[in-house]
Amino acid sequence: MSGRFAGRRAVVTGGASGIGAATAHRLAAEGATVLTVDLAPAGPDVTGEGPEPRSVRPAPRIDHLQGDVSAEETWDRVAAWGPADVIVSNAAFVEVAPAHETTLESWNRQLGVGLTATFLAARKLLPALAATGGAMVVTSSVHALVGLPGHPAYAAAKGGLTALTRQLAVEYGPAVRVNCVVPGPIMTPAWDRVDEESRAGSVRATVLDRFGTPDEVASAIAFLASGEAAYVTGACLVVDGGWSVVKDSA
Ligand SMILES: NC(=O)c1ccc[n+]([C@@H]2O[C@H](COP(=O)([O-])OP(=O)(O)OC[C@H]3O[C@@H](n4cnc5c(N)ncnc54)[C@H](O)[C@@H]3O)[C@@H](O)[C@H]2O)c1
Repeated sequence: MSGRFAGRRAVVTGGASGIGAATAHRLAAEGATVLTVDLAPAGPDVTGEGPEPRSVRPAPRIDHLQGDVSAEETWDRVAAWGPADVIVSNAAFVEVAPAHETTLESWNRQLGVGLTATFLAARKLLPALAATGGAMVVTSSVHALVGLPGHPAYAAAKGGLTALTRQLAVEYGPAVRVNCVVPGPIMTPAWDRVDEESRAGSVRATVLDRFGTPDEVASAIAFLASGEAAYVTGACLVVDGGWSVVKDSA
């Protein structure tokens, strides 16, 4: 198969939904064999269960591993799938509450999924990735850039990811490039719990006056993972429709 990821193998966490699913399908459409890792079961277009895939279609091929990315044993199972050329660490978990109403359990869960999982991915997969000269892309958020009410743990995780991106880029370069995307409001199932008024407010806060799509973030992730970004490492690419550069002064 031709394409930017022909013959490449990619792991995408949070790949059963939203940005992760769009990324998995984008990488597969461009030639990669993909393993999605998610707490949820696989979506309908997935061909087999990892780490021992039972693929029924030669390509595009997406295998699925159901597991918790904050658990070390999940990463052992991912490693057993075989060496990867691309790792997209994208899963997240958020519970909205101010700091004084956030339980320690909730804090640990949000940091575990949102930050520690990327450390575990690096610990388990980056040495092998260095051998293939691959790339890692991490999904941060505009919550890493600004404070928004009710997101202390989520923001701490996302801010930690931008720092961890730079750190991993330094530690594993030049063999591995590590970058992150910083999405703004992207219409995914994560917005199902958000009321209409808050949604409209988020749209108004963008320059482009709309939500982004999962595909638009998948494009940025695919770019950073591809050879087209060969001289890009330790970078954070904001994909937010201008959300972070405009502030209403009225
Ligand atoms: N949608 C947005 O507006 C937006 C904005 C900024 C950043 N992001 C980030 O984009 C990424 C994807 O978000 P999305 O909007 O596609 O959300 P989503 O809810 O559609 O998908 C998230 C996926 O992560 C999975 N997941 C949750 N906990 C997990 C765990 N412990 N182990 C494995 N999988 C787990 C869920 O099952 C789900 O399939 C997240 O990192 C999120 O923080 C999203």
